[in-house]
Amino acid sequence: MSSYTKRAGENCTIVRAESHRTGCQSWHRACALLQLSVRAEGILEQSGCNVSARASAGVASPCGGGAGTGSAADFIPPRATLSKLRDAATRCRGCDLWTCGRVVFGEGPRDATVMFVGEQPGDQEEQAGHPFVGPAGKLLDAALEEAGIDRTSVYVTNAVKHFKYERGAKSARRIHKKPNDTEIRACHPWLEQEIRLTKPLVIVVLGATAAQSLLGKQFRVTQQRGKPVKSELAGTVIATVHPSSVLRAPDGERERARREFFADIRAVARHIAKAQPA
Ligand code: URA
Ligand code: SF4
Repeated sequence: MSSYTKRAGENCTIVRAESHRTGCQSWHRACALLQLSVRAEGILEQSGCNVSARASAGVASPCGGGAGTGSAADFIPPRATLSKLRDAATRCRGCDLWTCGRVVFGEGPRDATVMFVGEQPGDQEEQAGHPFVGPAGKLLDAALEEAGIDRTSVYVTNAVKHFKYERGAKSARRIHKKPNDTEIRACHPWLEQEIRLTKPLVIVVLGATAAQSLLGKQFRVTQQRGKPVKSELAGTVIATVHPSSVLRAPDGERERARREFFADIRAVARHIAKAQPA
């Protein structure tokens, strides 16, 4: 563990040298983040390769400032395996979200029968480096358990691999922002590759962003939830709401939203049973 304080305007050479010394490849990202911290100084913390930049409260949000190439396809190596993809994604600059902390790639067995696709990692996912480990992930876990689906047997991923956020006006808290069309489109190649390699029999689309990425912008989750939709992506493709929408539902509606979400996941379990060879 070492730390280094970079002052505004200072060039990146020292950060790079420090990062090379510790074998960390992520210096450029941390450094770019720090350059965006326009006021005074940012702190680069390194523990292994876990680099994060923290701007002090009141400093402009570092998320979303860097220009991207327009597509994650520019970063996909030929004949990629899942682990090569996961590694390549750490260097992705397909869209402007590459400055938003660490990339969170999909996880699960290569031969998973079912893939769940969410929107983007949240605050806790970005910190942990794993998808669906925060509050929405806990609700998804509960729904899977109730439906008898073993979470360790499913592949879990997101339409967008970076956590898009802005800083709160009064605190440094990172507040979730919805990814836009350009970001969803730019990130799609990663998801396409994950589907190509895992070939799930069932794909579950969680919420509007995943639906936009996989089923098009016209698709309405609220109207077509819980039923298989026609798609070439997999034998069975089913959409439902995002678990976060259940958590965000007003007090009087949350319990019903929860029940409906759980019912959709039970429907998914029935389709998994049908899709699996006896
Ligand atoms: N919400 C998502 O869509 N994905 C996650 O990984 C976490 C929360
Ligand atoms: Fe690349 Fe996706 Fe991150 Fe954009 S959000 S930089 S396309 S991994």
